Amino acid sequence: MDRLSLGVLASGRGSNFQAIIDAIEAGRLNAVVKLLVVDNPNAFAVERAKKHSIEYLCINANEFTTKDDFFLGIAEELKTRGVELVILAGFMRIVRKPLIDAFPHRIMNIHPALLPSFPGLHGQKQAVDYGVRISGCTVHFVEEGMDTGPVIIQAAVPVSPDDTEDTLSGRILKLEHRIFPEAIRLFSEGRLRVEGRVVKISGYKLDDGFVVNPRLS
Ligand code: GAR
Repeated sequence: MDRLSLGVLASGRGSNFQAIIDAIEAGRLNAVVKLLVVDNPNAFAVERAKKHSIEYLCINANEFTTKDDFFLGIAEELKTRGVELVILAGFMRIVRKPLIDAFPHRIMNIHPALLPSFPGLHGQKQAVDYGVRISGCTVHFVEEGMDTGPVIIQAAVPVSPDDTEDTLSGRILKLEHRIFPEAIRLFSEGRLRVEGRVVKISGYKLDDGFVVNPRLS
């Protein structure tokens, strides 16, 4: 099977980007990252791209008249490179219509909470402040709106009353690094189909849709 062409968008340290690179290099994911786009020139994700000889671009939103133009600009760069699936790996902006229309149900996001709980910034802090007993992370297809769209994989972690935003974030991040490459692998194998707001996974096994007990991992 041909390798799936990925475009990655990131704003910060890029540890999820690294997890995807590692999965590819370990032969667990039949894909190639064609382009990294950052919206912030100081994003550490750029260092990771350099180290792995991946092309990168810093696209400054302030150089565009409107937000829609900014996202159209990104879509054009991705299309030019033959990108088939767009990965939001800690990309801290709400994606606008021109990019979504260019890649319908071909944009995946990871979020550090069990959506639809705690969307937006600091999903882990929101979970600690709310006092939930279980939180986790979600990979979903992107639609217009913040952290909305059909869920592909979720992973759950227990939350202790002693947890802080930092301790919970660390526990969740380990699972993010597992489920994001896994969701991309399911896509690359042509096993994901969106029906309404539900993602159907063909040849579904219990482990495909979620990971529950991090103590087993
Ligand atoms: C991750 O925890 C990701 O889930 C979160 O940003 C972090 C990026 O880390 N994304 C969101 O909150 C999206 N709403 P990384 O740059 O090390 O991958």
